[in-house]
This record gives sequence, C-alpha cells and structure tokens, in this order.
Amino acid sequence: MSDFKRYLITSALPYANGPVHIGHLAGVYVPADIYVRYLRHKGKDVVFIGGSDEHGVPITIKAQKEGVTPQDIVDRYHNIIKESFKEFGISFDIYSRTSSPTHKETSSAFFKKLYDEGKFIEKSSMQFYDSKAGQFLADRYIVGKCPRCGNERAYGDQCEACGSSLNATDLIDPVSAITGNKPELKETKHWYLPLDQYEGWLREWILEGHKEWRPNVYGQCKSWLDTGLQPRAVTRDLNWGVPVPVEGAEGKVLYVWFDAPIGYISATKDLTPDWEKYWKDPETRMIHFIGKDNIVFHCIVFPSMLKAEGSFILPDNVPSNEFLNLEGDKISTSRNWAVWLHEYLREFEGKQDVLRYVLTANAPETKDNDFTWKDFQTRNNSELVAIYGNFVNRAIVLTHKYFGGIVPECGELTDYDKETLNTIPEIIAQVEKNMEGFHFREALKECMNLARLGNKYLADTEPWKVAKTDLERVKTILNISLQIAANMTVLSDPFMPFSAEKLRGFLNIAPAKWDEMGASMIKAGHQLGEGGLLFEKIEDATIQTQIDKLQATKKANEIANATVAPAKPNISYDDFAKLDIRVGKIIEAEKVAKTKKLIKLTIDTGIDTRTVVSGIAEHFTPEQVIGRQVTILVNLEPKALKGIESQGMILMAENADGALQFVSPQSEVKPGSVVC
Ligand code: MF3
Ligand code: ZN
Repeated sequence: MSDFKRYLITSALPYANGPVHIGHLAGVYVPADIYVRYLRHKGKDVVFIGGSDEHGVPITIKAQKEGVTPQDIVDRYHNIIKESFKEFGISFDIYSRTSSPTHKETSSAFFKKLYDEGKFIEKSSMQFYDSKAGQFLADRYIVGKCPRCGNERAYGDQCEACGSSLNATDLIDPVSAITGNKPELKETKHWYLPLDQYEGWLREWILEGHKEWRPNVYGQCKSWLDTGLQPRAVTRDLNWGVPVPVEGAEGKVLYVWFDAPIGYISATKDLTPDWEKYWKDPETRMIHFIGKDNIVFHCIVFPSMLKAEGSFILPDNVPSNEFLNLEGDKISTSRNWAVWLHEYLREFEGKQDVLRYVLTANAPETKDNDFTWKDFQTRNNSELVAIYGNFVNRAIVLTHKYFGGIVPECGELTDYDKETLNTIPEIIAQVEKNMEGFHFREALKECMNLARLGNKYLADTEPWKVAKTDLERVKTILNISLQIAANMTVLSDPFMPFSAEKLRGFLNIAPAKWDEMGASMIKAGHQLGEGGLLFEKIEDATIQTQIDKLQATKKANEIANATVAPAKPNISYDDFAKLDIRVGKIIEAEKVAKTKKLIKLTIDTGIDTRTVVSGIAEHFTPEQVIGRQVTILVNLEPKALKGIESQGMILMAENADGALQFVSPQSEVKPGSVVC
C-alpha cells in the first residue's frame, strides 16, 4: 500500500428524486464501502463521504408533476435513501445533503472566488424559452431527438440512450417538457468554465500521470480530451438551486453539476472542523467512487474547478463501474424496472450480506453485467450456504460435540495441515492486492477461497470419522478449522459485515484488525459461543415472488405504452338509438364442448331468459361468472354458434394486454334496466 497519511473517500451523491436501487449499489456504494471498511481495518485515517444531490431539473420536474415543492421531494427521498443506506451497512462517516446551509455557503463561496479571480467567461446566448410557462428550458426541461443516435427522448443536456452529452440547441425538433410546446429562443447571460484552457494540463495530469486508472475511465477521458474541450456553462436560469452570488444574476442558480461535487467538501466540513487536512494536504489520498455516467464530471470538470480554485487536492483515482442490468433490461427509475433497496430490506430482512455478496461477486467492474434473481438464489444457496456457512457451522458444531465448545490445542502438524495453514497468508495477500487495485470482485473471490479452504480441509480430514479412533488428531483438525473461521471474521468483514459480526458471536471473539489475522488468531482454551446458521437457504417460492413482481411491472409498462385504437367515424343519434342495451344477470354458465373459447350463458335479461354464447372461456371459468350482472345487446340478430343459437351479445372491456372484463353497473340494478 502506497504511503498516504489519510484517505478521503467520496461516493457519488445520488439524486434525491427517487430511492436507491441495486444499480446504484453495485456501481458505487458497495465497492466504496468495501474499500473504506478495508482501510479502517488497516488502521488508516479515513473519512467516507456521502450525501444526497438535491438540486437539478429532474427534481423540479417531479415536484411540478406531483404538485408539491422541490423541498418536499428531496426531504422525502433524502430520508428514504439515508435510512436504507444505514440499514444496508454503507458505513458513511457522514451522509449529508446539498440543500444544507453549509453547502449553500461553501458552493457559493467557491463560485465567488473563481468569479472574482476572473476564472469564468461571461457570455450571452440565445436559449430555449417556454413563454407559456414563463421560464427558460434548462437541461431536462427540453426534450427532442438526439442528433447522434436518433433517440426521440433525448434531453437538453444528455442522451441516455447513447450517453452523449448534448447542448439543448443540438436537439432535433425540441419541445418543452413542461407544456409540450415548441420553444422560442431568448437571450440570456451565463458564466462558463473555459475547459479548453485546462486541456493541456488535464492531458498531462490524466493521460501521462494516471495511466493506472481503469481502462474504461482512462479511455473515456482520452476520448473527451481528443475530441477537444469546450467552455461549459456553470449557471442556469432556474429557481431551484444555489443562487448565483453575483450582481445581475437574479433568477439564476449554479448548475447542479457545479454545486454537487462541492457537496463532498461541504459534507466534510459538516463532519469535522478539521476538514481542511482532508482537502488541502497533498498527503491525503482522495478517491471518487462513481458510476460510468459520472466520469466526465469527476475526471474533467470537477478537477478543473479544483485546479482553478487552487487550494484543493485532486483525486488520485476514480474507480468507476459500468452498469448493472436487471433480468436482461436496463435498470430504469421511470419504468420502475429496478430492485429498490428499501423494498429489498423489507422483503429480505436480515439478508443484507446476501445482496452485498451477489452485487460484488457479479460487479460490473469491466463491463455491464446482469442481475437475475436465479443467480441471486444460486449464489446464496451454493456459495454462501453450502461453502461458507457449512464450513463454519461444522467447525463449531464439532468443537461443541467433542470438546464442550472449547478451542482444542493444536498438536503435531501433518504436511497437509502445514500446507493449509500456509495458504491462509497467501489468500490474505491476494485479497489485499486486489483491494488495492480496486478489483473487489476478485478480492471477494479470494476471500471465499478461504472459506473454501476450510470446507475442503474438513471434508478431506473427516474429523467426525477420525474421532472414533484418534481424538488427539481431531483436536488439531478443529484448531486449524477454527483458525480459518476466525480469519474469516476479518477477511470477509469489508464485504459482508453483518455475517462477520454474527460469526464473531458464534466464535465469541472481539473484532480484530487486519494485521491480527494469521495462523493463531484464536487461542486454545477459548470458549466458543453458541453456533448457528450463518446463512439460510432461499427457497424457489421466494425467488418466484420477485420474478412475478417484475413480470407485473413489465406488463404494467406494456399497458401504459400501448396505443389506443383510433376513433371510428361519427354516427347519428338515431343509429345509436337502434341499439337496445340492457343490464342482465348470468344465471347459468357452462363450457361449450370441444371449443377453447366459448361459454354458453343463460341470462335473465328482465325481458326474458335467453341463451348467449360468449367467447370468454380463456378468461373466466363458468363458476366465476354465474351470478354476475352484465351489459347485453339484446336486439342483435340471433346467430348459431357450434349449433347453439346465441341471442345477443355481452359487452366486454378489453385491456391493452388482451385481458377482458365485464362492463357492469357499480351496484346491482333490476335486470332489464336500459343502458343509454
Ligand atoms: N447525482 C449524480 C448522479 O446520480 C451524481 C452526483 S455526484 C457529485 O448521477 F459529485 F456531483 F456529487
Ligand atoms: Zn443519443
């Protein structure tokens, strides 16, 4: 580990316009938390910064849609996000928010300093304006066709389909997201950070100085730099955000991507009066954990801001993950295609580590990956339960069985014992190496190799058989097994802190530091605690419930997106009046033999009792429909169907997915009542 005096670890501030989902967790928070917990184990001085990003257009749009204030929206989601992170064990030293007074002051002062020192360009330009709404259309307030990929719903600042960062005026056929109107162009003044002036410095700092950054991060930076940087507006015409602190800037706020990363600084200030040592001492190592859509802001824009300001350190690494998909589809808040953290915590109580494990084992470190519930189940049942859980359970149960739960002495070692013990430090070294390189997926695999080692050691040495003839030998076997289990409490702790704590309880040992791991972590004579199950099997039914939930979402989306049949040509009232529609009641029903679709209904129409053959057998059983009130067209020409004369037609509503429902009065009426 290179020698840094202290660590400042930031994790991207999630927008407070929705709850957090597994994509956020896999991309940013789980890896950041693993790294931070590892550093703490190593005894490092580290602060872990998080908080909600509470400005920006998505928040005001959501507020307008719901008819509440932006503050209402951010209060709601900030609390949900903060609580769920806490329950999930994301161990922030502070979880702050950008609507805080400290942040307003800090970001305002940051802007003012750059402004006073002439670091901005002031420029007037024509921008889209919605005269009906009476406001400029910044960023997501404008939608149109992406000039790069043709996506019809690209935003004024970005196209989510192809990831391009856009200018509103690049959009083809732009419309206002507020009124749907075609916008006008109106002159307005803004401040720009001349990124082009930082290009040479950035090339040197990143392309020469940080070749160790992940290929996806380095590659994106290189492509930005090779394309050439443009001045970027850092203010907006909006009324939600940090007001621009200069004269002549009424109605303008800082651009959310200008203020949000300063939120890392504000949060550190709120955490400790000693914040400057984390931000201004070159011996501090700053690491930003982010998702890939944030790369340009954290590697190019924010560093240029910090450089312009002059007194802050720069990030030493920016480990960014690719995206996690869900069951083959892009995770999407608006389509509700996600596994929401707060729901997971409710539905899988006490299973935080299972999700932490699966998201790390399958982390999208080098390419987009897919989360599936089947994989979640398999990893739990055949890795956590069958390997890790099974191993520690056997070691503890056998120690209770043969030695009253007291750690036995380690006797003479066989070659196999020695080899096993020697493997422990090798595995630890592998975990460390991978942690240092931000390869958490690989680090976890190595960590599980320690549990695998223990599991295999027990399977090979078979103490339950040896016990019949040589209890002395069993002592050694169990001592070694318990050493491995004790090492697991430390090695697995960054990844799965809840089960590490549980295991410490089983073993009755206190939390230990990283450097205390080794071949004699737990002493002979030590009394173990009660054992137990570290992980539980997850049943098919539990997984099916989740899959069904996603199916229902998919269906709801299909229905929401389905187009409605166009209107038919007008008819006269007289034409309509010819239809004799009544309320009737189904008194008998039976399937028509040898057909799939037909049910023969006997209906009390109030006028008479008659037979109607209806094509509803794929939607209803006869039992389900008997006794129902329905609407029936009684003067339709009778028609023979499968040899049965059908005397009328039942009216049904057909949903976009083809599902049928009866059209019935809200409460029972007298059969024969006229529908008019
Ligand atoms: N809210 C942004 C997002 O979710 C991330 C902001 S990170 C910060 O993409 F640095 F700006 F805070
Ligand atoms: Zn596009």
